[in-house]
Amino acid sequence: MTKRPIGVFDSGVGGLSVLRAVRAELPREDLLYVADSGHAPYGERSEDFILERVKQITAFMRSRRVKAVVSACNTATMVALQWLRNHLEIPVVAIEPMLQPAIERTRSGRVGVLATRVTLMSEGFSSLLVRHQDQAEFFLQPCPRFVELVERGALDGPETRQAIRDYIEPLFRQGVDTLVLGCTHFPFLIPIIQEIAGPEVAVIEPSRALARELRLRLTDSRLLTDKPEPGATFFWTSGEPRQVEPVISRLWGAKVQVQALPQRYAIPPDVNRTAHSTPNRS
Ligand code: DGL
Repeated sequence: MTKRPIGVFDSGVGGLSVLRAVRAELPREDLLYVADSGHAPYGERSEDFILERVKQITAFMRSRRVKAVVSACNTATMVALQWLRNHLEIPVVAIEPMLQPAIERTRSGRVGVLATRVTLMSEGFSSLLVRHQDQAEFFLQPCPRFVELVERGALDGPETRQAIRDYIEPLFRQGVDTLVLGCTHFPFLIPIIQEIAGPEVAVIEPSRALARELRLRLTDSRLLTDKPEPGATFFWTSGEPRQVEPVISRLWGAKVQVQALPQRYAIPPDVNRTAHSTPNRS
């Protein structure tokens, strides 16, 4: 059991920001990454659609006998965490927007949260907000263009800089001095976000904290590998491997091979696809 891989998934390539933190924390573990690029962006999907995709991806991971699952997608966490915890008999660790460190860091008491629309409108995020809202004022900013830019590897350039300005400058006008990155695609834009925001603004993202939590969970469950050699990393996608491979290689920092997810785990679920069909929960 300890030699089995750890499964990590995201709607696309964003979860690689989490995968690199996991690789740094657990260098000897085998990792299996699923980029659900054929169905990205989750931020524009209905909750039913996202939940069905999570079921398919974890069914695939179970067929590969993973020993733990990491949701490297805030949107999927907000929609499917309960299902994951109730239905998987292995450890589940899930990324979510880190509000507490932002509260500790802000001096103005005003914090911007950048995430997908689905995350910001989810019940999961509302209850997170309720638990923290007496400690700071939160300004919520959906950033769908960031996901699209990172998916095609556009980490810099005029279009990317303009999108960053469009999303964050209005927050600064409100006195925000701390930004929480509530989507795993966004850490790839940190150099430009920080350049535009200036050194006074703190940018908070949770991938290292999640990797440490994963190590603790594996230690407690006695699931850490005992093999001495460096772990392997396997990449799968529901998208077109020839298109996804160069982007993953670039973001991962090494040339990698990406395999096509078997068809039965890649087909779109037969439910409403778009977020607009999600009932309004407010
Ligand atoms: N990377 C994902 C997240 O953390 C979702 C991006 C998307 O597909 O919209 O929320």
